[in-house]
Amino acid sequence: MDSPAIPEHTVRVIPFRSPMKLFLDTANVAHVAEIASWGVLDGVTTNPSLVAKEGKDFKQTVLEMCKLVPCVSAQVTAADAPGMMEQGEEYAGWHKHVVVKVPMTTEGLKALTHFKSKGIKTNTTLVFSVTQAILAAKAGATIISPFVGRIDDTGENGMALIADIMRAWEHYGFDCEVLVASTRNTEHITEAARLGAHICTIPYAVFKELPQHPLTDTGLKKFQDDWEKVKK
Ligand code: G3P
Repeated sequence: MDSPAIPEHTVRVIPFRSPMKLFLDTANVAHVAEIASWGVLDGVTTNPSLVAKEGKDFKQTVLEMCKLVPCVSAQVTAADAPGMMEQGEEYAGWHKHVVVKVPMTTEGLKALTHFKSKGIKTNTTLVFSVTQAILAAKAGATIISPFVGRIDDTGENGMALIADIMRAWEHYGFDCEVLVASTRNTEHITEAARLGAHICTIPYAVFKELPQHPLTDTGLKKFQDDWEKVKK
């Protein structure tokens, strides 16, 4: 006997997607090399503050990182669209792995539109609202970066913004990845994955915590102790 047909509305096709991409939020090349050696690092995000902290040459830093990962965000510092366009075109010429990071301003929107027309990849930074996210995506951003930790700092819930953006993204065919930025702890990364965010950028200290679990340590110790007992 044929099995009863499943009512159509109960059939849920779960599309297969690549796992969330993991970026390192740093301008420290040694840290990038270390995490890249694990085989799980998809990219790096830098910003002027991170670059200033390391005190190294910006172009050299970006080029060294481009040898280690396929996606390196390099931020423009000009405030006006023509200046952003000039800087961004220069950065994009350094290496094919460079993604030009542009601030979420009206000048930034003009620059994003220009970079889209030139086929230059972009990451829109300092996104704090759904309306900013939509504007950047409409202007052709490859990636948008909502800053969750800085929203948490104000007493609001940063991950609620990611939930709202992902919900909005379900309605539209935006070819624009949502990168959870300004993460401060492993719970931000877990929640980003729960919400289906495309990318998380993670500080070095938090990235180092990701493989850790006390039950892994105690479990491994027990395996080793038991093996010692029977080993000939
Ligand atoms: O990727 C953005 C990030 O660098 C900002 O992080 O900790 O300065 O808010 P934070």
